Amino acid sequence: MPVSDNLRRLIESNAPLWAGEAEIVRTYWTSPIRTRETDKTWLKYQCWKEYVGVAMGPGGALEENRLTGLGKTLTEQVPQLDITVDRHALRDEIEKHFVEFTHYCLFADVYDSLLEPGEPRLNANQVTVWPEEDALAKFRAQIRRGKGKLMRATGFTEGGYCTLYSEGAKLKGRPGVDGRIGAACQKVFDDEFGHMMYGVMGVEMESMTAGDWAELRDVTCQILRLRLYMRNAQFSHPVSARRIDEIIAGKIEPIAFDYAKAETYLRDGHAAAAE
Ligand SMILES: [Fe+2]
Repeated sequence: MPVSDNLRRLIESNAPLWAGEAEIVRTYWTSPIRTRETDKTWLKYQCWKEYVGVAMGPGGALEENRLTGLGKTLTEQVPQLDITVDRHALRDEIEKHFVEFTHYCLFADVYDSLLEPGEPRLNANQVTVWPEEDALAKFRAQIRRGKGKLMRATGFTEGGYCTLYSEGAKLKGRPGVDGRIGAACQKVFDDEFGHMMYGVMGVEMESMTAGDWAELRDVTCQILRLRLYMRNAQFSHPVSARRIDEIIAGKIEPIAFDYAKAETYLRDGHAAAAE
């Protein structure tokens, strides 16, 4: 399926903001503000995203994390398995949670590897949200509540072109914590890239008016701007407020979107499996 002009324009409007998120993460790795404490902070926050996630209700709540969500689904669906519940649909649902919980384990293990004697290990049920993540989650929840075509904006922007994971994976092979971060990020990237591509390309599936596309461009850019603040705060502000403003004003080399890979994912149905 070739990429339409509308989708291409949508991608192009998002690409500078994807690059901005990449710049924040890349800047952090060698930033003078980086310490063992700031590493612990971003890893713990990332554990919130993997364990609780933004998909589970308005703003996300610790008690409604992915595992308790799965528990509820199983309680409801197991008695109806092979009657009204399709076994493959349930299998896919379990896999989705398994994958996210695996990501939680990866980042939690890196966190624990940083501890000094006497410091407590990461506890999933004590992870916390941060204000900028909360603002992003609430905005996305508001869009989803509105249903309709704009809901696709949340799928389109999910993962932010996986820039945390791609920039993290560049640390692979380095000594110490950097190598451990690199290995974890590579694994998550491998899981998420197809899924993210599916969210991007999936926008194409229904006919939309020029007005719908314009609105989608606007909302996706709003989400991605909130992602910049979310990511910069997660990493203890490696990038100045002035630089964030510049990024938002477009003073940045956009991410080169991998159209060939996107089409391959769709053709081979990898993304459908990841979904
Ligand atoms: Fe994840």
